[in-house]
Amino acid sequence: MEVIIRDDAGQAAQLVARLIAREIRVKPDLVLGLATGRTMEQVYSRLATLHRETGLSFARVRTFNLDEYIGLPVDHPSSYRRYMNEHLFSKVDIRLENTHLPNGMAADLNAECAAYERRMREWGGIDLQLLGIGSDGHIGFNEPLSALQSRTREKALTPSTLRQNAAMFGGDLAKVPRRAITMGVGTILESRRCVMLVTGESKSGIVAQAVEGPITAMVSASALQLHPHCTVIVDEAAADGLKGKDYYRWIFANEPEWAEFR
Ligand code: GLP
Repeated sequence: MEVIIRDDAGQAAQLVARLIAREIRVKPDLVLGLATGRTMEQVYSRLATLHRETGLSFARVRTFNLDEYIGLPVDHPSSYRRYMNEHLFSKVDIRLENTHLPNGMAADLNAECAAYERRMREWGGIDLQLLGIGSDGHIGFNEPLSALQSRTREKALTPSTLRQNAAMFGGDLAKVPRRAITMGVGTILESRRCVMLVTGESKSGIVAQAVEGPITAMVSASALQLHPHCTVIVDEAAADGLKGKDYYRWIFANEPEWAEFR
């Protein structure tokens, strides 16, 4: 695992966008795992700018999102499908048929979860998985005690996640679906590369637990310590609780991979 600290949320998002852009240029048919949430909005807006201003093309890119609420029609304003269409897919040259999210309206949710795993495999697996973190340490919607080998499945959301995500439902807790389909922790760990973006002071405690704490199912993101190629990008505010800041800065300043991003 590597940790990169940027001055502010804008610079952290810019680094993530540039990293994704580099991967797409190297492999134009990249299989990209995507995340939702407020943190990612800045990444998607920068990717849209890179598309407009530098011709970065998503024409052959395939995407798989981490999760989707159960019981929300795709055109519901708070569905993750709507979020993705609004923040990224409508702003770049991606073909909508190459974009995948779990179908939270499927009649048979177990069959849908198995089919989602199958589709990922058919496309050769995820090359780069983008991740945020929930305040309870979830990645995707893998709430505390999610098995570290879990696969795509239905998951009940914790009261703290419902409260955190109520903002996307006009602040009305009662409107937030209680369940979601999410890729499992095991599914996420199979992607060839993971990039987790965490910004803001409110996430400083949980990111420190995920990066420097013990690997535990109580903090799903801590499982990323097992991943062979995981980069965690944080802003100064989110880095506040990290003990190894000086070491992380030294690595970023000296590692050849990061030369073009310094
Ligand atoms: C949701 C998503 C997560 C995301 C989290 C954080 O719960 N399922 O994938 O990481 O929100 O969102 P935010 O960036 O809004 O804090």
